[in-house]
Amino acid sequence: MTDAVRVEAPGVKYGADYIEADYTYQNTSVHRDAKGTYVATPTHTKYTFRTQKKVPRLGLMLVGLGGNNGSTVTATILANRSITQASTVCLGNGPEGEVYVPLKSLLPMVDPDDIVIDGWDISSLNLADAVERARVLDYNLQVQLRPYLEGVRPRPSVYFPEFIAANQADRADNVLTGSKQELLNTIRRDIRDFKENSGVDKVVVLWTANTERFSEVIPELNGTADNILASIKRNEAEVSPSTLFAVASILEGVTYINGSPQNTFVPGVIDLAHKRRVFIAGDDFKSGQTKLKSVLVDFLVSAGIKPRSIVSYNHLGNNDGKNLNAPHTFRSKEISKSNVVDDMVDSNQILYPDGRRPDHCVVIKYVPHVGDSKRAMDEYSSEIMMGGTNTLVIHNTCEDSLLASPLIIDLVILGELFERIQYKTEAEPTFQNFNSILSILNYLCKAPLVPHGTPVVNSLFRQRSCIENVLRACIGLAPLNHMLLEHKLARVGIDCQETGSSKASKMNGHLIQSANGVSQTNGVHETNGHVRRPSDEAEL
Ligand SMILES: NC(=O)c1ccc[n+]([C@@H]2O[C@H](COP(=O)([O-])OP(=O)(O)OC[C@H]3O[C@@H](n4cnc5c(N)ncnc54)[C@H](O)[C@@H]3O)[C@@H](O)[C@H]2O)c1
Repeated sequence: MTDAVRVEAPGVKYGADYIEADYTYQNTSVHRDAKGTYVATPTHTKYTFRTQKKVPRLGLMLVGLGGNNGSTVTATILANRSITQASTVCLGNGPEGEVYVPLKSLLPMVDPDDIVIDGWDISSLNLADAVERARVLDYNLQVQLRPYLEGVRPRPSVYFPEFIAANQADRADNVLTGSKQELLNTIRRDIRDFKENSGVDKVVVLWTANTERFSEVIPELNGTADNILASIKRNEAEVSPSTLFAVASILEGVTYINGSPQNTFVPGVIDLAHKRRVFIAGDDFKSGQTKLKSVLVDFLVSAGIKPRSIVSYNHLGNNDGKNLNAPHTFRSKEISKSNVVDDMVDSNQILYPDGRRPDHCVVIKYVPHVGDSKRAMDEYSSEIMMGGTNTLVIHNTCEDSLLASPLIIDLVILGELFERIQYKTEAEPTFQNFNSILSILNYLCKAPLVPHGTPVVNSLFRQRSCIENVLRACIGLAPLNHMLLEHKLARVGIDCQETGSSKASKMNGHLIQSANGVSQTNGVHETNGHVRRPSDEAEL
C-alpha cells in the first residue's frame, strides 16, 4: 500500500517499521518582572517522534454493549461519520491552492471496518433486539442488520444497584455475582478470552454504560494504586463498577476510555495507570449541547462579548434520560456539563476582571415520548458595548446516539494510534510513551481529564488543532498557523501568481485579465472572497 501522505524532508524517515520525524517545538515562556511587565521568551525543544507503521487488528470491548450507543456503534461501524473518517485537514499549499487530505491519511490508523466488537451489559438482550429497543436506526436498516447482530450477546456484567438509578433494575438480568476481587478477576479473564479467541492483536475497553453516581474520594480507600487494589480485596462498598472495569483494563495493559461523567478515575486509578504505563482517557463524550457551548463561548469571549448567563435545558426519552432522572446520577452529568466555559472565561481578564464567572444552569428532564431524539435548548445572555444585551437562543434536536457513536470510533482509533507513537528529546534521548492520561483525546470529551498541573482546555477549536498539530508533528510538519502570510505581503502580485489565489479568482469568475493575459492582482478582495473588478467600483 502506498502512503496517502508522504513528507519529503531531511528529518523525516519512512522506514519498514516506523515513521520517524525530527520536530522543533516552538513555544513561548512568560514571566512577570519586578515592574509587573510580562516578559515573553521564545523556547525551542527538539523532539523526535516515532510511529509504528503496522496497524493492529483491533478489538473494542464496550461496557454497555446493549445500550443505545453500544448497539448503534456496533450496527453502524461501517457507515460512520467521525473526525478520523469524515474530516479533512489542510496539508499545505500546492499549485492549485490549499491541499486538504483526510485526517486519517496523516499516519497509519485502524480502519473502523476492521474493528471487532465485544463487551458487557447487565441486560442480556442480543444486539439485534437491542437495536430494536434503542429505536435509533431506521426500521428497514434494523431488518437488514438483524442477521449480523442477533448472534451477538453481551457478556454478563457487574451490577451494584446503588451506583445507578433504581429504575434500571428491570433490565438487569445478566449480572455477575461474587466479591469485588472475584468480579475484577472475571473482567480480566473476559478481556484475555476475547483477545485469544477473536484473533485481535490489541484491545481497547470503553465505558458507554449508564452514568453512575460519583464515588467518594477518600485517600485510604482510593487515593493510591495500592489503596484501591486493597479496597477491592476488602470488598469495599464504595468501589464502583466502572472503577472495577478501569482497574481490570489497566492490569491487563489495555487502554480504558470513560464515555460517561462519573469519577471512575479516582486518584488511585490514575496512580495505577501511571505505574503500569497504560492509557486512560475521559470523561463523558462531548457530543451535542456542550460541544456547541465550547464553540459559542469561545467565539463570544474572544470577540469581546461578555456572556453573563448561560441556561441549558435538555429533554430526552431514551434509557440514558431515564437513568439521569435520579438526582445522584443527574448530579454527575451536571458537574460534567458545568465547567466547560471556565477556561474561556478565565482567558479574558478584561471582560471578567473580578474572576466572576457567568451564571450557568443545566437542567435535564426525562420525556419518554421523544426517545433518543434529544432536545437541547440554550440561552446565552451577554453584555455588549454601551450596556447593550445580546441574547442567543438555540434549539438543537438530534439522535443522541448518532452523535455519540462517531466519537466512540474516534476515541478508539486515536487512542490506539497513540499507543504506537513514542517520542524522545535531546534531554531524554530514549523513546518513551505519551503521558498515561491521554489528554490529546480531550476534543471528544466534555470534562477533560488532564495530568496534574496541566491547563484544562475546553475550547473546541483549540482541542481540534491540538490533535491536528500533534499528528503533523509526528511527520515533521510545522503546526498550522492560518497566517497565510504569503497572501498578505506587499509583493502580493508576485506571490499570488505563484500560489492558489489566481485559481480562487478564476473560480469566482472575477479574474482580471491584462493585455498579455497574465492575471493582475490589483483587484480588491472582499471578505466573501470575490475580487472586485475596477468596473464594479462604479456600480457600488
Ligand atoms: N450523545 C450521547 O449519547 C452521550 C453523550 C455523552 C455521554 N453519554 C453517556 O454514555 C452512556 C451511554 O449512553 P446510552 O444512550 O447508550 O445509554 P443506555 O442507557 O442506552 O445504555 C447504557 C447501557 O449500559 C448498560 N449498563 C448499565 N450498567 C452497566 C454495567 N455496570 N455494566 C455493563 N453494562 C451496564 C445498560 O443496561 C444499557 O444497556 C451514558 O452514561 C451517557 O450519559 C452519552
